[in-house]
Amino acid sequence: MKVLIIGAGGLTGRYLVREAKRRGMEVTGLIHEELDITRADAAKEILAKWKPAWVINAASLTSLEKCEEDPARSRKINAEAPAEWAKECGKAKIRFVHLGTDYIFDGKKSSAYLPHDLPGPLSRYGKDKAEGEKRVMKANPQALIVRLAWVFGHGGATFMSKLPGILTEKEVVELAGGRTGSCTYAGEAARIILDLAAKGANGIYHGVQAGQTTWKGFAEQAVEMMRAKGKKVACREIREVPIEKMAGLKISRPAFSPLDITETEKILGRKIPAWEKGLAEYLDEIGL
Ligand SMILES: NC(=O)c1ccc[n+]([C@@H]2O[C@H](COP(=O)([O-])OP(=O)(O)OC[C@H]3O[C@@H](n4cnc5c(N)ncnc54)[C@H](OP(=O)(O)O)[C@@H]3O)[C@@H](O)[C@H]2O)c1
Repeated sequence: MKVLIIGAGGLTGRYLVREAKRRGMEVTGLIHEELDITRADAAKEILAKWKPAWVINAASLTSLEKCEEDPARSRKINAEAPAEWAKECGKAKIRFVHLGTDYIFDGKKSSAYLPHDLPGPLSRYGKDKAEGEKRVMKANPQALIVRLAWVFGHGGATFMSKLPGILTEKEVVELAGGRTGSCTYAGEAARIILDLAAKGANGIYHGVQAGQTTWKGFAEQAVEMMRAKGKKVACREIREVPIEKMAGLKISRPAFSPLDITETEKILGRKIPAWEKGLAEYLDEIGL
């Protein structure tokens, strides 16, 4: 089974390549320097060259700030190019998998978001990702979209990826409060995405780990797990700060965005492990 992973240099892309190889698939991972997914005719050329059975699109402009600064670029990468790849894959009968985000929601719900809840994006990133989902499904109704949230993993630029390291260094850790969401170890995200694709799923599914948390809850859990393993933790205090007071977090994010995984578990025929299990795997991976 030949799988092509585009955006393979990013956090989720790297874990997808690793997991697909572990499963014995024939994997080609193209990083941004090797392939700009927005280049005209890139999809047609690359598909003709590699002839994969599946394409997984892990490329995205994920910085909320960069999306606001350059909306045309965000629209191209997060909405227009995925639709073009979806269309070309559809024509060539190649399975197309695209990744989505909880940031398409407005956070006003009081229970976990279902796959078909209406989007209400608060940011340019959320808006373009929502538009991307719509365009992908229109261009290729057989496509599979897997929505992720608060992903963490080795070498990731996300705050949750960096948090365990920060806890070993800083005595007082300040983090944004007032937000609740789902989260996922990138290794588990890769397993869910590949399992869904292997089951022949199409449409929208949520690919996060069970349970919900806050950044503080995640940090406290990490401290507890690291201490239980005898690791050195510098952090004595975890302080929640209102998100609007945090430098670098000026763009609105949903206050409440857990994603419901009932449909995903049904089609996979297995329970997705809780986020704490993913955190434990991550800590083992980075030696903390
Ligand atoms: N990380 C999260 O917490 C999170 C949460 C929810 C959903 N998601 C979704 O999960 C997917 C993967 O995200 P991630 O966390 O792996 O993000 P990431 O680490 O930022 O990776 C995205 C990758 O896409 C590449 N890229 C950007 N523009 C490109 C272009 N024009 N052509 C080809 N590659 C390009 C980036 O390369 P450069 O670095 O060189 O630009 C980067 O390697 C995205 O669809 C994202 O919306 C992520």
